[in-house]
Amino acid sequence: MSNTGLGFSYKSFLALIVVFACCILLFEYIGDLGASLIKDQVKDSTSKYSDSKLEDNIPPLFTLNKNQQQPSEVSTTKIIPTSLSTEMNGEDAYNSACFVCHTTGAGGAPFIGVPIAWEARMKKGTETLMKHSIEGYVSEDGGIMPAKGGRLDLSDQEVLNAFVYMLDQL
Ligand code: HEC
Repeated sequence: MSNTGLGFSYKSFLALIVVFACCILLFEYIGDLGASLIKDQVKDSTSKYSDSKLEDNIPPLFTLNKNQQQPSEVSTTKIIPTSLSTEMNGEDAYNSACFVCHTTGAGGAPFIGVPIAWEARMKKGTETLMKHSIEGYVSEDGGIMPAKGGRLDLSDQEVLNAFVYMLDQL
């Protein structure tokens, strides 16, 4: 009998390991058994729901009637209710983008509501004035009308609304 010097022999040490390994295996087996038992139970208690198809009893929200005529053309026109539109009207756009210069005459800007200031300009034609409102322009005298009055965040339509509002005041 060889002695490990630790107070017990190799044999009993090996035996101990074997017993230990067996214990682990046993525990695992018991664990598995328990798990599968629980699984079975859960299956049992839920199967009554999954077997009867609940969704079969729910009426469909809509059904596609095959006889229904399909529209031959899908309209892509967007319908934007005016109340939800965030576009500024002429007065608001004028006040926020044109007021600074056209109410004060700053830099030689033609005054709003003063016909004589606009007479010569109107001869250029509304098209040109609309273009100048959006794209801006520099006159021969060096007067500068900035594009969109410097408010490039405005849409073209908003600038035109402001322009129309300005002409309405004449
Ligand atoms: C920073 C000042 C300034 C702002 C802001 C401004 N304008 Fe002007 N605008 C001018 C000046 C200056 C002129 C005159 C330029 C010239 O002919 O010497 C002018 C001229 C115009 C003209 C006449 C253009 C032409 O061909 O004679 C129109 C139209 C006009 N502005 C529209 C607008 C509108 C619309 C807005 C707001 C969206 C606006 N402006 C904002 C300075 C401004």
